[in-house]
Amino acid sequence: MATTALITGASSGLGSDYARQLAERGADLVLVARDRDALQTLAEEIRIDHGVTVTLLVADLLNPKQRDKVCARLSDPLSPVGVLVNAAGFGLPLTFEHNALADEVNHLELLVQVPMMLMHAVLPGMLARGRGRILNIASVAAFTPRSTYGAAKRWLVSFSEWANATYGPQGVTVTAVCPGFTHTNFHERMGLAPGNEGVPTGMWLDSPDVVAQSLRDAARGKAVSIPSFRYKALVLLVRLLPSAWAARVAGAGR
Ligand SMILES: NC(=O)c1ccc[n+]([C@@H]2O[C@H](COP(=O)([O-])OP(=O)(O)OC[C@H]3O[C@@H](n4cnc5c(N)ncnc54)[C@H](OP(=O)(O)O)[C@@H]3O)[C@@H](O)[C@H]2O)c1
Repeated sequence: MATTALITGASSGLGSDYARQLAERGADLVLVARDRDALQTLAEEIRIDHGVTVTLLVADLLNPKQRDKVCARLSDPLSPVGVLVNAAGFGLPLTFEHNALADEVNHLELLVQVPMMLMHAVLPGMLARGRGRILNIASVAAFTPRSTYGAAKRWLVSFSEWANATYGPQGVTVTAVCPGFTHTNFHERMGLAPGNEGVPTGMWLDSPDVVAQSLRDAARGKAVSIPSFRYKALVLLVRLLPSAWAARVAGAGR
């Protein structure tokens, strides 16, 4: 894969595994996140393991000036980006009524507006070149009622479905990746101790597996990727259930 991939949320979890697996396929990388030390450590590991060029773009995507730098990198015609992975994200407690409104606004901005803005920056170049791949990391929560998190991820799935149908025939695929519970730093960052998330052990996925399957689905031009048979079956079940039951199933875990 002789291209450059820009990955947000690359300092941790799914984003760092996209970086590793895209580098394994030969892509040069631009790694975006706030934690410079974590990005530097990952970049060193990847340069040694795969010999590709890795650039760091330390940015808080909720800061307009820093986000503009990421958009400028994505639209730079002299250094085209062929793959965009929107993986930056965080979660909030499901108790919407108690969450600070400012936190909810930031949450919506990072999960919805930021991927939309980055796609807007990268698409014109990809369409002019007639090729490109965009992966938007959504969640199975998109298919279940799950506070503002599920609603934001539903937006990302719906927009990705439309974008894939529209731009896929022009050579640019857009895939919404919908993982279930995955071992990363996501739940710990929400203040939940490992093993205290209320999720049965058998429902946890490993981040490298999620990434490998979603990259295969994206290469096939799929609009939606639901890694693992377990979660494909669960999504099917939830779609068949009356909405009140679906909400009860969706209430498990965090
Ligand atoms: N883990 C799961 O169970 C699961 C399931 C379904 C979907 N997802 C989705 O997968 C995506 C990746 O999450 P993860 O599980 O890999 O969690 P994670 O390990 O906590 O990683 C989150 C990443 O987002 C970055 N980030 C957070 N706020 C940012 C900001 N303001 N600006 C720039 N970067 C920011 C973090 O980097 P810095 O802190 O260094 O900035 C980090 O690299 C998220 O969109 C999440 O909703 C996760």
